[in-house]
Amino acid sequence: MATAPLLTLNDGRSMPALGFGTYSINGDEAPGLFVQAIEAGYRLLDTATRYENEVEVGRGIAESGAARDDLFVTTKLPGSGHGSEGPRVELEASLERLGLDHVDLYLIHWPNPLEDKYVETWAALVELREAGLAASIGVSNFLPEHLERIVAATGVAPAVNQVELHPYFPQEEQRAADAELGTVTQSWTPLGRKTGLLDEPVLAEIGEKHGLTPGQVVLRWHTQIGAAPIPKSATPERFRANLDIFGATLDDGDLAQIASLATGQRIGGDPRSHQEF
Ligand SMILES: NC(=O)c1ccc[n+]([C@@H]2O[C@H](COP(=O)([O-])OP(=O)(O)OC[C@H]3O[C@@H](n4cnc5c(N)ncnc54)[C@H](OP(=O)(O)O)[C@@H]3O)[C@@H](O)[C@H]2O)c1
Repeated sequence: MATAPLLTLNDGRSMPALGFGTYSINGDEAPGLFVQAIEAGYRLLDTATRYENEVEVGRGIAESGAARDDLFVTTKLPGSGHGSEGPRVELEASLERLGLDHVDLYLIHWPNPLEDKYVETWAALVELREAGLAASIGVSNFLPEHLERIVAATGVAPAVNQVELHPYFPQEEQRAADAELGTVTQSWTPLGRKTGLLDEPVLAEIGEKHGLTPGQVVLRWHTQIGAAPIPKSATPERFRANLDIFGATLDDGDLAQIASLATGQRIGGDPRSHQEF
């Protein structure tokens, strides 16, 4: 069975270097897919209040029979919960839906800078960590300027910053800003969902050399540049393959060819203006 190696976070805890994205996996079939993902070796499940599947993720965890300590569960605070009081209310509700007494990682889903409440929101997450409701805390879609403000206000750097990252949008400056704080950059939409990225001929060529599919090449690229991808797949054959990448190593030439795919275009919202509630 494939498993992902562990990364050490800046709070001393560890996190799998690759996880299972759960966005859009909802409904009656969802818990069974999460059981299969755990059986395939996934230890990190990435959900969010906004995905409306925390109940199904919790059911999958319970039905899998996996030991709680072997799993790493991430969920995220919705924009409507920003402020000093909202995070506790929202996290307690998430835990109730998940059927857990703590999450391994709680993230502020988006900074919503037009609202400008993310600094007090971050201070509230620090308290939730101290209360043991979240073992680690982090952020998502935070730009360097957002990170700077929350660290200046609290002295606490996020363990993780989960951002859009794929070969078309490799986020070099953001990764450098995260690294300066010891913050792990986690990649959302790591396979460039619906962009045609996986049809780029260069990925098939590199894959042929190493016995990898284009998806596996992209995921191995993430882990080799120090980012932690959370690919989503509702197809067991694909999600098994997505985890089975750590036996191969891309060479410098491969990494350079993948770097040449960058367009600098985002697929998702721009954190400067995106409002998530
Ligand atoms: N923090 C945020 O703001 C944020 C935003 C977006 C996403 N996320 C997180 O990131 C996770 C992943 O992002 P995503 O779901 O947007 O996109 P993604 O993982 O880049 O792509 C998912 C798509 O790729 C397909 N796929 C998966 N593995 C494949 C493979 N090996 N070969 C070919 N196709 C493959 C999937 O199809 P099938 O399912 O049909 O196999 C699905 O359509 C989400 O599930 C969520 O947990 C976070």
